Amino acid sequence: MRNERGRRLGKDVPIVVLTGAGISAESGLATFRGADGLWEGHRIDEVATPEAFRDDPELVHRFYNARRRQLAGPGIAPNAAHLALARLERAWTGDFLLVTQNVDDLHERAGMVRTLHMHGQLGMMRCLACDEVGPADEQLSVRSCCGVCGSIATLRPDVVWFGEMPRGLGRIYKALETCGIFIAIGTSGQVYPAAGFVEAARAAGAWSIEVNLLASAVSDFFDEHWRGLASEAVPALVDQLIGS
Ligand code: APR
Ligand code: ZN
Repeated sequence: MRNERGRRLGKDVPIVVLTGAGISAESGLATFRGADGLWEGHRIDEVATPEAFRDDPELVHRFYNARRRQLAGPGIAPNAAHLALARLERAWTGDFLLVTQNVDDLHERAGMVRTLHMHGQLGMMRCLACDEVGPADEQLSVRSCCGVCGSIATLRPDVVWFGEMPRGLGRIYKALETCGIFIAIGTSGQVYPAAGFVEAARAAGAWSIEVNLLASAVSDFFDEHWRGLASEAVPALVDQLIGS
């Protein structure tokens, strides 16, 4: 397969895939900025900040406990888009990195291995006193006690809030600087630094592909657009990339 600049898009080309909430929407998890992006009347960015946690930790714990419970529920499973990306990872012979802004574990449940959760994971918690990170208790609260150092009221969800530093940026930019293909799926392009990854990839000469139901804030930076449901567009795109 060749792109419009005549470059080869073979399976040995280094690839970076970025995913956002849109890839998990069809698995039943609400996106952040859609019409459904409200929780108990709060805008989600009002509960996903260090300030919110300082001012009302119980509210923030309730929000993440509810999301964690939902994710563990019987109705939630990877959809065709997650499964197609796992197929892409298995078939790819060149460097491969999946960077996700999602805190769910649906990529892992689909069988992916090379994932980087730049915004942390809902299933993990961290102790502010001893820095220990481990699987999150189902119900975190201000009364929770750290099993390692014994502190009380120091456990927080191990997710990256607004104003905090995303994870793995060094590794991500290194991969972007050498990638030949960059794909963004189901992300609105409103939250940096992830929204800027397409420009970094293009500066490296990569061919960039956006999959989204709608235009995003950064659509103009992409070379190729697949408009539609992730569950339909991603499997078709993966078929094209791996040539089946
Ligand atoms: N298929 C494809 N795209 C979809 C689908 C779908 N079924 N459903 C929604 N989308 C698209 C929307 O058009 C939108 O562009 O997914 C995008 C979701 O955007 P956001 O809700 O803003 O999610 P995201 O870009 O992941 O948010 C980034 O913001 O609140 C923070 O830390 C949080 O990681 C999150 C970050
Ligand atoms: Zn501790």
